[in-house]
Amino acid sequence: MELKNILELIYLIASVTFVVGLKMLSNPESARKGNLVAAAGMTIAILGTIFIRSEAIPTMIYILIFLAIAVGTVLGWTAAKTVKMTKMPEMVSIFNGMGGACAALISLIEFQNPHNAATLLLSTIVAGLIIGSVSFSGSVIAFLKLNGTLAKAIRLPRYNAINNLFLLGLAIFGAYMVLSGNHELPLLFALFAMALLYGVLFVIPIGGADMPVVISLLNSFTGLAAAFGGFLYGNKVMLTGGILVGSAGTILTIVMCRAMNRPLFNVIFGAFGESAGSAGPAGDSAKGSIKDISVSDLAVLMNYSKKVIIVPGYGLAVAQAQHVIHELEKILEERGVEVKYAIHPVAGRMPGHMNVLLAEANVDYNKLVEMEEINSEFETTDVVLVVGANDVVNPAAHNNPASPIYGMPILDVEKAHHIVVNKRSMNAGYAGIDNDLFYDPKTSMLFGDAKAALTSLLAELKTL
Ligand code: TAP
Repeated sequence: MELKNILELIYLIASVTFVVGLKMLSNPESARKGNLVAAAGMTIAILGTIFIRSEAIPTMIYILIFLAIAVGTVLGWTAAKTVKMTKMPEMVSIFNGMGGACAALISLIEFQNPHNAATLLLSTIVAGLIIGSVSFSGSVIAFLKLNGTLAKAIRLPRYNAINNLFLLGLAIFGAYMVLSGNHELPLLFALFAMALLYGVLFVIPIGGADMPVVISLLNSFTGLAAAFGGFLYGNKVMLTGGILVGSAGTILTIVMCRAMNRPLFNVIFGAFGESAGSAGPAGDSAKGSIKDISVSDLAVLMNYSKKVIIVPGYGLAVAQAQHVIHELEKILEERGVEVKYAIHPVAGRMPGHMNVLLAEANVDYNKLVEMEEINSEFETTDVVLVVGANDVVNPAAHNNPASPIYGMPILDVEKAHHIVVNKRSMNAGYAGIDNDLFYDPKTSMLFGDAKAALTSLLAELKTL
């Protein structure tokens, strides 16, 4: 078999492993294996690309390639091994940005290659440069926002108009670079800089609860930029990988948009993240008083309930209380109480965060019920236990048009007979807004770290 055909065969096998791996990711039981399958495919594709070639490469190039692989492997491995679950979105963001940067660098080099003079190839290169750069700088800003360095949404006056004009200018500049045949390096770098700046302008105004949408959108941008690279090189595995990331990211964006009730058009053209006013900082409102509940009273209340729904949120992940909550669920079920978990699509800090967290504690997957399905069950629920969740149960989304989260679908916990909220203080959640649920006469607050509070609750339940 010719070398070229062997390489094509390797690319085909690798592409199949990506598809199979992705499919396996959709179930928590097979997800780990799916990741390994796709990683194995990527490994053979990389080794095939490096070693199976008709023309010889200087040894120095091999040394540089393996040096880069070694640095990347050590950094990636260490980051993945040491990252805390609650820091995953930051890591995903920055890794995604690296993919965008790679695509942009490929374009910067290939634009100067005289073999790529055809208009179709130049358009591919320029599109890869713009999208890859936007994805890179946008992901860096998303990373800084997620880790708290850039806590606030920064909005210039008329930022929507500025951003859209800037995008239009970028598109016109890109078209000029393709059609004019002008290959001057300073111009190319000006386009690169402009695309980087657009990435910053695009993400910097986004705040509050809208970050999940922007992160998945940036993910799809990187996939698209990589697919352009695959098309340029006629490299099937890069093309397949890029298309898979691009389409998976797009689907996730649509799912996130639905979860946040934001039309995709508004996301892309900048009408989102805008609030008609804030609901005010936590704790400053005259909404009535809040009421505490003791662990022993809660244990009794739950013990004699027929149905309990647990609403997990970001705080559960921070406290690493997933194992204790599973213990709590088991003891309640042993006593004849029906227990379910209500999963909001953007609870926590990454898509599927609560599912992954609870799967880690071996919670039965069938007990995790999605928002649309469980919302009709709250009316017939005796106790809802909200653990470290805030924005996803904030009724302002239904009844306060001035709230930044107005219109976002939430878990309708206020319909239950009793609501108990566990958190450490009256502090706001990710969106930074007050929550009227805490002042609802049916709501009681169980203050404290989730793990400590649930451990005491469990101990108390065992005495009953
Ligand atoms: P949040 O609204 O962020 O609220 C979490 C609450 O947990 C906080 O109010 C905090 O209150 C409490 N908490 C923190 N540490 C705790 C601990 N050790 N023990 C007990 N409670 C603790 O969480 P959510 O309801 O899950 O909503 C998620 C938010 O993040 C949404 O706004 C969403 O848009 C956004 N977001 C989501 C994603 C994805 S894709 N899921 C990505 C980025 C952003 P105290 O400080 O008073 O304890």
